[in-house]
Amino acid sequence: MTGNRNIVDEITGHRRMRRNRKADWTRRLVQENRLTVDDLIWPAFVVPGTNVVDPVAAMPGVNRLSVDKLVEAAKEAADLGIPAIATFPNIDMSLRDETGSHCLAANNLINEATRAIKKAVPNIGVITDVALDPFTNHGHDGVLRGDVIVNDETVELVAKAAVIQADAGSDIIAPSEMMDGRIGVIRRALDEAGHQNVGIMAYATKFASAFYGPYRDAIGTGGLLKGDKKTYYIDPANGTEALRDAALDVEEGADTLMVKPGLPYLDICWRIKEAFGLPVFAYQVSGEYSQIKAAALNGWIDGERVMLETLLAFKRAGCDGILSYFAMDVARHLAKKGS
Ligand code: PBG
Repeated sequence: MTGNRNIVDEITGHRRMRRNRKADWTRRLVQENRLTVDDLIWPAFVVPGTNVVDPVAAMPGVNRLSVDKLVEAAKEAADLGIPAIATFPNIDMSLRDETGSHCLAANNLINEATRAIKKAVPNIGVITDVALDPFTNHGHDGVLRGDVIVNDETVELVAKAAVIQADAGSDIIAPSEMMDGRIGVIRRALDEAGHQNVGIMAYATKFASAFYGPYRDAIGTGGLLKGDKKTYYIDPANGTEALRDAALDVEEGADTLMVKPGLPYLDICWRIKEAFGLPVFAYQVSGEYSQIKAAALNGWIDGERVMLETLLAFKRAGCDGILSYFAMDVARHLAKKGS
């Protein structure tokens, strides 16, 4: 033995984690997870009119788009390789009522957007939500009777809306209203209407979260909402209950499962992936986006690096993909890097 005896080698038994981290090439060799454009779903806000690009104040960099502009953006998304787009409408206040009845209009804004996108950009997937909140005058996701969001009547409505959305060309129905039994009822309704190929992405675990604030601004429900959504969304304190809720969605026929919000619920992503083996998606929601943007705009964090790190964290937690308002930015970044 020469004079290289070293206390650290003795303690580590000659194992050194840093050997694999010593250079860019070693780090690339051992990298376990990678974010690619195939992981991204882009949530987009639709407004009536033409040629409208209306910034969402609470979400710097995010715009509400009229259908023509949305189609242009969907084309860019498809060209960048983004697999799917998830649309959320901000409809005229005069069309909103107690029961959200306008969700059943075949030519409402969300269905109009689906038709236009599928016609102009057939190679991008369209994912539509059937929750009633864009259509109700109280901002709740279901039918309000007295002070109760009634479950079964809401389920009946959203199943009808799902069929109408599928008729318009929607590829995947993503019900976010957390009513009991809706996955099974929607599956039956779709199949009965001949939509066996239309999938269901269950908002399997949607938590009663404060991170949705900017979204409510974006679709104009923030000022409308009376009370809160605690009687139908999951308590942020409850992980085991979330798993039971997801298990029901699996039994009822969900094709994929979603966790929402995202980053504060990575434990749920991991547990759900382990428990069911179905494809799992996380929704990095509006408040998560705005936090990063706000800090970046203040120069407090490196916005691009934080964006990429959060998305990679979803992959590490077992997610197959992420719904993110950063999707277009990330796709452009990855395209630049790859070329
Ligand atoms: C409601 C719905 C919400 C979001 C999408 N659909 C939550 C809510 O307002 O209660 C949140 C999305 C986001 O914050 O980005 N069905």
